[in-house]
Amino acid sequence: MNVLFVASEAYPFAKSGGLGDVIGALPKSFAEDVDVRVILPFYSTIPEELKRNIKSLDHFHIRMNNTLYYCGILSCEYEGITFYFIDNESFFKRPCLYNYFDDGERFLYFCRAVLDSIPSLNFDPDIIHCNDWQTAAIPYLLKHQYRTTFPNTKSVFTIHNLKYQGIYGFNDICGYLHLGFLPSDLEYYGKINLLKGALYSADLITTVSPTYAQEIKDPFYGEGLERVIQHVGDHVVGILNGIDEALYDPKTDPALFIPYANPKKKKSENKKALQEYLDLPIREDVPMVSMITRLVEQKGLDLVANVIHEILQLDLQLVILGTGEPNYENLLRSIAYNYPDKMITIIDFDEPLSRKIYAASDFFLMPSKFEPCGLSQMIAMRYGAVPIVRETGGLKDTVTYFNSITKEGNGFSFATYNAHDMLFTIQKSIAIYHNEPETFNLIVNNAFNSHFDWKKSAQIYLSYYKILKEV
Ligand code: GLC
Repeated sequence: MNVLFVASEAYPFAKSGGLGDVIGALPKSFAEDVDVRVILPFYSTIPEELKRNIKSLDHFHIRMNNTLYYCGILSCEYEGITFYFIDNESFFKRPCLYNYFDDGERFLYFCRAVLDSIPSLNFDPDIIHCNDWQTAAIPYLLKHQYRTTFPNTKSVFTIHNLKYQGIYGFNDICGYLHLGFLPSDLEYYGKINLLKGALYSADLITTVSPTYAQEIKDPFYGEGLERVIQHVGDHVVGILNGIDEALYDPKTDPALFIPYANPKKKKSENKKALQEYLDLPIREDVPMVSMITRLVEQKGLDLVANVIHEILQLDLQLVILGTGEPNYENLLRSIAYNYPDKMITIIDFDEPLSRKIYAASDFFLMPSKFEPCGLSQMIAMRYGAVPIVRETGGLKDTVTYFNSITKEGNGFSFATYNAHDMLFTIQKSIAIYHNEPETFNLIVNNAFNSHFDWKKSAQIYLSYYKILKEV
């Protein structure tokens, strides 16, 4: 079985969020007889030490939009996986991965370049596995324009987040798609919606948790595409993400102040070291609650903002790390300024610091409005921090409310997207920390022993690839 993963990010080459983690980890998790390779844009931001091993393979020109575009193909081996890169400086030599005025053109170029470069790879994929809107044109192009070149290749499209769809004016991008008119599979209120095109063209659609696969049929979660999802509904399969348990391992993590095998023994030392580092009052008996997140609406920040003063009445310390929308950045910074003994906001994307925070925290707050899967709650549990989440998407599939009778459950949760329901759940969790230390330790252990290994998910993906290959 030959599988080519196509994505706009993969750790450690490029990462802006969970997608990068997934593409960095999943390909390594397949059994040895599956040949999985990955193709990415050759961003100038790829770390220099990785760039040193990347070698040129081929180059040619592709015609799009009545213009010839250079396309270099580069390649390297990393942790047993072959990575390919598409090189074009005018599109990818930029300081950031995304948020440029021409993102539509950049990733349409990438999609066509991927399909045109396959013959040079000496690799014949049975499956092209695409991820999120940046790669959404591939299933459409494969079905409508590349069938004769790849008669037996099937496409899989994974939705990591339905909110981002790649919607552009017809005239702006029709040349990149070789379109003379707007076909109904791509049409969305008079514009082109690339994600919609993938939903109608891919041989299989998956998303990253079973609950999200159901939720997106509903307008609350469907982002305007719920009718399309309902239409293709039977083909949408929810396969839960995992985390790279070797990469996130408190026993060996070099970023931690004090690595540990058992959360009970060493977490409080990590908390003390972080309190010192962040200039918070040094107290072993205060519960540390953290959020490590993109500061965007999806992550439930309006709930936090709504009851922040009530939260800060509790005996706790709140640590927030992330970047995002300026209104949330400013709000969280200004509140922290007013509660210097209780709260700190760090506006940054800082991997090593994030791991120090996971290791030091007693609780990890993730009250998302929607969450296709969510990796941070799994990473938090791996470091022995108890998740407090809203019951949605992958959060619902990975966190179960602690049951004081059966002693089962690895965290706390609430159902309705409501600030006071969240507040009540935080109050309850903090009360258990202060008043029932034995119960709290039990929950920490349950969280710490919840494993979210990639192997199981890789087996499920493989079983679908096999079905597709036989059709
Ligand atoms: C997106 C989603 C997140 C998911 C990740 C990886 O970032 O918002 O829920 O875990 O993709 O699939």
